Amino acid sequence: ARRSRLIQALPKAELHLHIEGSLEPELMVALAARNGIDIPFASVEEVRRAYAFSNLQDFLDIYYQGMGVLRVERDFFDLTMAYLERANADTVRHVEIFFDPQGHTGRGIAFGTAIGGILRGLEEGKARFGISYRLIMCFLRHLDEESALATLAEAEPWLDRIDGVGLDSSERGHPPGKFARVFARARELGLKLVAHAGEEGPPGYVWEALDILKVDRIDHGNRALEDRRLVERIVAEKRTLTVCPLSNLKLCVIDAMGQSPVRHMLDLGIRVTINSDDPAYFGGYVNANFIAVAEALDLSEDQIATLAVNSFAGSFLPEAEKAEHI
Ligand code: HPA
Ligand code: ZN
Repeated sequence: ARRSRLIQALPKAELHLHIEGSLEPELMVALAARNGIDIPFASVEEVRRAYAFSNLQDFLDIYYQGMGVLRVERDFFDLTMAYLERANADTVRHVEIFFDPQGHTGRGIAFGTAIGGILRGLEEGKARFGISYRLIMCFLRHLDEESALATLAEAEPWLDRIDGVGLDSSERGHPPGKFARVFARARELGLKLVAHAGEEGPPGYVWEALDILKVDRIDHGNRALEDRRLVERIVAEKRTLTVCPLSNLKLCVIDAMGQSPVRHMLDLGIRVTINSDDPAYFGGYVNANFIAVAEALDLSEDQIATLAVNSFAGSFLPEAEKAEHI
């Protein structure tokens, strides 16, 4: 109970959140009705029952299906506002959220419809809750690099409102090196760079993300712990890892919360952070992730506070703004 009170009270940043993964079944059903879309579920309960995954791909299949109810700008706005209300309730003061433009353009929804609604939500959240934000556009790694390059070109009119690019979707068989050119181009454009690596993929994918893509942060990074030299590098370079405990459990990256690498990462001196990834699918927002991992690993109050400090330290806020939160 003391832990829960501390976690609730601590100001936090969330650095690994797919906005499409915050689509709660209630909103999915409501948007399906509003847009006249048939979904293969009769009720909210039935949607929730479908959320049993044995790996990343199992989840992704349902995640791409779920985002099909997002059609018009207002849908993306409502989605973003619903997330920010939950984040605000969890004392999150800063968010750096992902969106998957190819998940929308690939089904005929304009880039501007998605990003326009998300940005309007982020601005409203800033005005209403005081939550600052960054927006990170992710490329789907199961698609080819040409598609990612075309997406970056499509984003050009919006580049003053996009802070970074990321890499997500099916990791196995899609190493970071496949996206060398598009990340080089994003870097030339002055964008921040992140990539999912070492969630299911091997430590070699984390090396590639650092060496070839030159990312600032690693999303997940669990499997980095298998390689001592890689750990040394991550510590020496103060690389942030955005770990997602409930996601790891639901996607069978770990078999029990007691296997979460968070405590080990803290002990190694890695700048590890706690995030919710796709909270509507994995069963909890950021505080639920903190509580689950703190209980299972018996984290001290100092360790919990360090995780919250790390979330600001690892953010893309300017140093002066980080200091205001720490
Ligand atoms: N991993 C990879 N791709 C994703 C994820 C994830 O956890 N969530 C949404 N897209
Ligand atoms: Zn993710």
